[in-house]
Amino acid sequence: METYILSNGVTIPKLGFGTWQIPDGDEAYQAVSHALKVGYTHIDTAQAYKNEASVGRAIADSGVARKDIFLTTKVWNSNHSYDLAKASIEESLQKLGVDYIDLLLIHWPNPKAFRDNWMEANAETWRAMEEFYEAGKVRAIGVSNFMQHHLEALFETAKVKPMVNQILLAPGCPQDELVAFCRQEDILLEAYSPLGTGAIFKNELANELADKYGKSVAQIALRWSLQKEFLPLPKSVTPKKITSN
Ligand SMILES: NC(=O)c1ccc[n+]([C@@H]2O[C@H](COP(=O)([O-])OP(=O)(O)OC[C@H]3O[C@@H](n4cnc5c(N)ncnc54)[C@H](OP(=O)(O)O)[C@@H]3O)[C@@H](O)[C@H]2O)c1
Repeated sequence: METYILSNGVTIPKLGFGTWQIPDGDEAYQAVSHALKVGYTHIDTAQAYKNEASVGRAIADSGVARKDIFLTTKVWNSNHSYDLAKASIEESLQKLGVDYIDLLLIHWPNPKAFRDNWMEANAETWRAMEEFYEAGKVRAIGVSNFMQHHLEALFETAKVKPMVNQILLAPGCPQDELVAFCRQEDILLEAYSPLGTGAIFKNELANELADKYGKSVAQIALRWSLQKEFLPLPKSVTPKKITSN
């Protein structure tokens, strides 16, 4: 597995396994177990996916050493305060059954409940995340779905700069300006929904390119992502697709 290096020196595998919409229980357990078996070393979950317990169980049972797995989770929208974020991160550690999380993200910058004070809510959530980072319970911290103005607001109070921004990046959604800004700030871009949550398989051009190069549509999309130096996070519950991705 090839890797990138984050701005704080932490190594991160270039391809991750997405787990959004994989129900907790047997489905998440089987999908993550298969991913680890066929060589993924990086798993992306979130408090909101409600499958942290099954993801953690699959990791524990995999036989792969904890240090050889890169595990990401995200603080959910309802936990945007110092105290709520802290409690939720403790809960994530407990559900995942791990002593540390490799990468912890703020899932969304501006949830409805905090619309009037999102800047302060993010700053306070970040302060809690920095404490876990400084205590060694989280190896890297970052954000998700942050646009440039959300990042600039966070920079006002952050002691530790975000190392990652996880955003929608797919051939139909290259987000050039935000990508350039993140690069200027030394923030790695993770590509969520790299297959357009399945939409790319119906795209005519993607199918033409797959025929032209003798590859699958998924391979074309993932190669696009890697050539852009993004970190794609394809999701699947189908063993064959998990392996081929
Ligand atoms: N931070 C955020 O706000 C955010 C938002 C969205 C996603 N994400 C992350 O990004 C991950 C990926 O995004 P996503 O879940 O939207 O979907 P995606 O990876 O873009 O696409 C998944 C869909 O493509 C299908 N698929 C996967 N590989 C395939 C292949 N080789 N051939 C044919 N079909 C294939 C899957 O089918 P089956 O599952 O039926 O096999 C599923 O329907 C998420 O799971 C999550 O970890 C984060």
